[in-house]
Amino acid sequence: MTPPSDPPLSKDGLEAYWMPFTANRQYKDNPRVLVAAEGMYYTRDDGKRILDGTSGLWCVNAGHGRTAIAEAIAAQAKQLDYSPAFQMGHPLAFKLTAQLADMLPGDLDHVFLTNSGSESVETALKIALAFHRRQGEESRLVLVGRERGYYGANFGGISVGGIAANKEDFGPSLKEGDLLPHTHHPDHNAFSKGAPGWGSHLADVLEKIVEKHGGKTVAAVIVEPVAGSAGVLVPPKGYLQRLRDICDRHEILLIFDEVITGFGRLGSAFACEKFDVMPDMVTLAKGLTNGAAPMGAVVVRSYIYDAFLRTDTPGTTIEFAHGYTYSGHPLACAAALAAQDIYRDEDLFARASEIAPYWEEAVHSLKGLPHVTDIRNMGLAAGIDLEPIPDKPAARAFEIYLRAFEEGLLIRTTGDIISLSPPLIIERHEIDRMMELLTTLLKQAA
Ligand SMILES: Cc1ncc(COP(=O)(O)O)c(C=O)c1O
Repeated sequence: MTPPSDPPLSKDGLEAYWMPFTANRQYKDNPRVLVAAEGMYYTRDDGKRILDGTSGLWCVNAGHGRTAIAEAIAAQAKQLDYSPAFQMGHPLAFKLTAQLADMLPGDLDHVFLTNSGSESVETALKIALAFHRRQGEESRLVLVGRERGYYGANFGGISVGGIAANKEDFGPSLKEGDLLPHTHHPDHNAFSKGAPGWGSHLADVLEKIVEKHGGKTVAAVIVEPVAGSAGVLVPPKGYLQRLRDICDRHEILLIFDEVITGFGRLGSAFACEKFDVMPDMVTLAKGLTNGAAPMGAVVVRSYIYDAFLRTDTPGTTIEFAHGYTYSGHPLACAAALAAQDIYRDEDLFARASEIAPYWEEAVHSLKGLPHVTDIRNMGLAAGIDLEPIPDKPAARAFEIYLRAFEEGLLIRTTGDIISLSPPLIIERHEIDRMMELLTTLLKQAA
């Protein structure tokens, strides 16, 4: 595809955009501008192709430029551009939610639509608190997250989030949240292929948190089955089941944040299937629309939905005072339905599973290269820890990120961790190319 012929942006032209989670000064001195995308590749404003090693931001699971999705969005924009989300419905919202309810296991069969992963998390946390009130347990107000967990950028999400830098500007109360320990301990589980054998006992800290607060005070626990943003932290074998068991014992809701792990990233539709652990709620976004339109969802088990509807109030009462103007937006629904068709027709989740062993061997081939202190993987995701440059945390990985982009590969870095999560359509030769380039860059890195 030929990139648009607009002239490069001037420095002045970059100024107004306050870019999210971006080093604005560094970026605006050295802008990286993408103008087109197709399949596994982005196109830069200078025409150079960039192999997408991160599915955009973990969302373009079926690869870029999917015509069927673009056409579905365009057709929907002509047919029904917008429909009020409150007290009104349109056919695609019902079709999509029914389809999602079918895809999720067990009685995860009611779906609340949002516009992002962050909104999905806020929604799930609010459902948890309101659910316990409906059950007559108003005392359940404690929400538990996990160290190194990322649950989006909104207040609820950062209050249970475990990335300190995302909290510190926003007031001391956020620091007081209860967090489970993270599960990444290279001294016990370095260079694990798939789920590490050590660490399931770390789930037991939940018992201590329950004990600390006492009685019926903990409302919900939220974890990413595989922590994505903090660098692909794979749960130890048995860990998620152990969390489930403790939640059951104390009637705590277990929320799986599957914003990243949903839609095939681990080689199955959802992580809850992969690990065979049933959460009470699942949060989704990203791959739901293949990244082509903003959309998120919270899928809840039937008893949660029933608790809201089973009420003595008149039928005209709104059962859950929550929602967004763009919940179930027609264009996003069209994109999501088209994306789900592609996943199904091309059997992309199974494809991810088939190529995962090749991926595993390829990423672990980086073991032994300079600065590499750990590598881990699951499905089509991998995290690579680098030793930081003394007194310059994150500098080594960021330098490699910049060099990779110059050389035609998009990776993602958090601190001194490189995260990789390519579209599920990646071919073996593209995996080889990623690893060859990373090998070169790691050898050259300061
Ligand atoms: C696990 C998880 N939850 C929530 C979010 C927030 O999603 P969004 O950026 O769409 O608000 C993310 C984003 O990376 C995520 O990885």
